[in-house]
Amino acid sequence: MLVIAGPASTELGNRVASLLGVDVVDVFHKVFPDGETYVRIEGNVDGETVAIVQTLAPPQDTNLLQLLLLADAAKDLGARRVIAVVPYLAYARQDKRFLPGEAISINTVIKLIEAAGVDRLITVNIHELDILERFKIQAENLSAMKLLAQHFLEKGLKGAFALAPDQGALIHAKEADEVLGGGHGWIHKERDRITGEIRVSVEESFDVSGRDVLIIDDIISTGGTVAAAARIAREQGARRVYAACAHPLLVGNARQRISEAGCLEIVGTDCIPCPEAVVSVAPIIAEALKNEL
Ligand code: R5P
Repeated sequence: MLVIAGPASTELGNRVASLLGVDVVDVFHKVFPDGETYVRIEGNVDGETVAIVQTLAPPQDTNLLQLLLLADAAKDLGARRVIAVVPYLAYARQDKRFLPGEAISINTVIKLIEAAGVDRLITVNIHELDILERFKIQAENLSAMKLLAQHFLEKGLKGAFALAPDQGALIHAKEADEVLGGGHGWIHKERDRITGEIRVSVEESFDVSGRDVLIIDDIISTGGTVAAAARIAREQGARRVYAACAHPLLVGNARQRISEAGCLEIVGTDCIPCPEAVVSVAPIIAEALKNEL
C-alpha cells in the first residue's frame, strides 16, 4: 500500500504512512491563474492500493476537487484500489432538506466520490452515522472521542463530567465518559434554520457544581453551540470548563466567543489542521488501514 498525502492533510498523511511503515507518494498542486485546480501524482501507483488522505476542511470545495482529481488520476494511472481517507467529511450537516428546494449536499458529495473511482471511504466522527448507509462503496466511521478524552485524562481531568452541547452529541459524551469516568449529560439545543441562531435549555438536569466539565462535540464551527453550553455549565457552578471536538473549524470569532463564555481551552484533532489540533487521529486511521497491507 502507498499513501498519497493530499495537500489538505500533508502532515496527517505522513504520520499515517510512518505508523504503517509504507511510502508516501508526493503530490504537486497549484491553482491556475484563472482559478482552476491542478494536481499531479509524483510517483508510480500502477497496480498498487493507494490511500489518499485528504480532509475537506475549509476551503471545502477546493479540497473536495483535489480529492476527486487525485482519486480519478490514481485509478487512471493503474491503481488497483483507491481508499479515500477523508478525516472531515464536509457537507455532512446538509444531510436532509430542512427547507423546501434545498440541495441535500452530502448526497451529491457521495456521488462525486464514488464516480471518481474510490473503492472505500474512511472518515472520522461523521456528523450523522446513517449517512454511511448512503454510500454504495464500503464506508466507515472512526471516532476520535476517546483520544480526546485521553488527552484530558493526561492533563489531570480524571473524573471530569462529559457534557454534550446537544442531544446529537450524547454519543460523544458517553465515549468520553468511558475514559474520564465522571458521568455525562446533555443540553437541549434548537437552531433557527433561517437565522442560524440557537436556543438552549436544560431538559435533563445534571450536577456539575464544583466539578470540571468537558464539553464534547463533533464539530465546532461558529462556536455558538459550545459557548452556550459553557455558559450553562458555569451557571450550574462548574469549576473549570474545557471544550473538545474532532473538527475544530473555528470560523470567524469562534475562539473569542468560546473564551468569553468561560471556557478555558479548546482541543481538537488534526482532522482540521489548526493551532488547536493537538490530538492526532493518525493512530486510528493507521489501524483501520492495516487490513490493506
Ligand atoms: C451540530 O449538530 C453539530 O454537532 C455542532 O454542534 C454544530 O455544527 C456546531 O456549530 P456551531 O459551532 O456553529 O454552533
